[in-house]
Amino acid sequence: MNNDTQQVMQRIKELRRLVEYHNYRYYILDDPEITDPEYDMLFNELVSLEKKHPQFDHPASPTKKVGGDPAPAFSPRTHSIPMYGLDNCFSTDEVGLFIERIRKQNPENNLSFWVEPKLDGLAVEVIYESGTFAAASTRGDGMTGEEVSSNIKTIKNLPLSLINLQKAPEYLEVRGEVVIPKKEFDKLNAIKAEKGEKIFANPRNAAAGSVRQLDPKITASRPLYFFAYGAGLIRFRDNTRWTSQSEISSGLREIGIAPVPNGKICRDLIEIQQYFHEQEKSRLESPFDIDGLVIKVNDILLQERLGFTARTPRWAISWKFAAAQAKTRLEQIRIQVGRTGVLTPVACLASVNVGGVMVSRATLHNENEIQAKDLKIGDMVLVQRAGDVIPEVVRSFKEERTGQEMNFVFPETCPSCQSPVTKIKNEVAWRCVNLSCPARLEQGLIHFASRHALNIEGLGKKWIKILVKQGLITKLTDIFLLKKDDLLRLDRMGEKSAGNLLDSIERARTDITLSRLIFGLGIRHVGQQTAKSLAERFGDLEELAGADEEYLQTIEDIGPEVASSIVRFFSNPDNRKLLDEFGLLGLWPVSRPESAKKNPLSNKKFVFTGILDGLSREKAKEMVESRGGGVAGAVSKNVDYVVAGEKPGSKLAKAKDMGLRIIGQKEFLELIHVEDR
Ligand code: IVH
Repeated sequence: MNNDTQQVMQRIKELRRLVEYHNYRYYILDDPEITDPEYDMLFNELVSLEKKHPQFDHPASPTKKVGGDPAPAFSPRTHSIPMYGLDNCFSTDEVGLFIERIRKQNPENNLSFWVEPKLDGLAVEVIYESGTFAAASTRGDGMTGEEVSSNIKTIKNLPLSLINLQKAPEYLEVRGEVVIPKKEFDKLNAIKAEKGEKIFANPRNAAAGSVRQLDPKITASRPLYFFAYGAGLIRFRDNTRWTSQSEISSGLREIGIAPVPNGKICRDLIEIQQYFHEQEKSRLESPFDIDGLVIKVNDILLQERLGFTARTPRWAISWKFAAAQAKTRLEQIRIQVGRTGVLTPVACLASVNVGGVMVSRATLHNENEIQAKDLKIGDMVLVQRAGDVIPEVVRSFKEERTGQEMNFVFPETCPSCQSPVTKIKNEVAWRCVNLSCPARLEQGLIHFASRHALNIEGLGKKWIKILVKQGLITKLTDIFLLKKDDLLRLDRMGEKSAGNLLDSIERARTDITLSRLIFGLGIRHVGQQTAKSLAERFGDLEELAGADEEYLQTIEDIGPEVASSIVRFFSNPDNRKLLDEFGLLGLWPVSRPESAKKNPLSNKKFVFTGILDGLSREKAKEMVESRGGGVAGAVSKNVDYVVAGEKPGSKLAKAKDMGLRIIGQKEFLELIHVEDR
């Protein structure tokens, strides 16, 4: 090997290590050291080097996560230790009995339990040999599963090479659950519905279906996560052992494998019970489906003493949450018109208790969904409260139909203004495009006046409905033209409340900030955060209206979909007219792009190496950040300055190699100082 190729090989190794390390910071520690674009640069450099030098190809390179060639079929693989199931229980009493049984058998033991959420996904075993991913298989019947290595390899939070190798077992069978976040599941189904494909019934099916894909590239495109809950065979090089479940959890985390989140040690039933209620309460906020807790004897020796029944361990049990699903009758389907004109079908249900909350309405999302779920009016349906607060209909019980059920026919005209509805290309939703549709206007006004937009006190849903109905408001800007006499003619509007309302409208007009106004416009996909970013970049609405998609996408958080929605909004002549009216009304906030002055180091990236004289790293970081710059932990091509102090580390050599700009402490302080003036 000549010198150059030697160097290439070194760089490839280095990049693999860096990418795995930053995956670990991102996925396991949830504390990335570098930005996404910086990560992409490292990753892309690795991809291109590997492509140019295929002789250094390696199956455990992090680039292999994109998915290899399709497998003709999955071959069976027998687990070295069977993968047992768990006994379920549904009450405190049952858990109490479980604990008592173990206590009786082991009175001398100072008992403790490892308790963690039970994730609802697909059980998988992953094998690492000498720190490198070797194989993965599904649980199957517990004895023998299917080998799904090429698919499992694509899971983003699962490393192909472990980190902190000195702490890793030489041979490791790690077991865990493959899951898909609820949000991503919804997105996946929306795409499937749009394509007219069959949708997944729940996130577990989506995860299982994704793992059992014959084409790993499809698996790679699915947002799968692996969370470890235990181990099969483990062999360390020395005589290290993991002696408890809690140690397994922290040990795995240390070597780069994500354990099931939120596990904790409980000493008795009371503690377990308390934890159960906490988790049950917050389960809807969890990004993943959780269907209960798993309670395990923490001590591994004791686990071994307790052993297994034919099917399940005697040292573990699962305690299931009460279902957040319930069965009820779908009495009617109504159409709601939103401010963007989207017609949303809403299920009117016979009231039912779902996980402790009475539910009588559920969203049906769109027409396709009604078809995909095959819903008829009069059907018995399964309703669930999922991640969001809004309940949804999961499916119908077709087998219970009586023949009296009726098909729902989606209306061809807007139920509010009767104008014909249309569909935008590539979208599933029907829309009313009549800008003066009363239903749209109402929703638009409610949003416009709401707390995070213009925040017009006293102008809530109720009054908006009345004002629209009475014809006092026919477009957004009419709010500012309301006269006291008009208001006084309304029922239950007295002198005082009319005066208060006009005052708060006037206050909103003069106090409004650009970001609130942008948010208030109700542009699709533009939430509060995006509105803020836009207001930081543009001086006023006119500037924003003039921006093209390409430019908009240079703003953080703004992708093609959002950019195109913004451009579409401002290319609508009625919306342009609205801007003119805002101007005439003096509703024209300007942002103070003082930011340019305040942030002289804006977008400049620094890396520090070595010791700075009389200046701590924290202080230096603060100096940079308060001037709009950023500090990275590692050198990469988009670092602008490498500040080298006394006894600089390896970063300096690397920076030199990469031809980065290297400065000393004096120059650094000058830079800060000069830029300040
Ligand atoms: S421990 C010896 N912990 O539930 C059995 N299982 O019903 C050890 N599961 O097959 C299982 N989350 O797929 C355990 N935190 C967790 C779990 C969990 C989900 C699944 C697992 C298992 C099934 C048993």
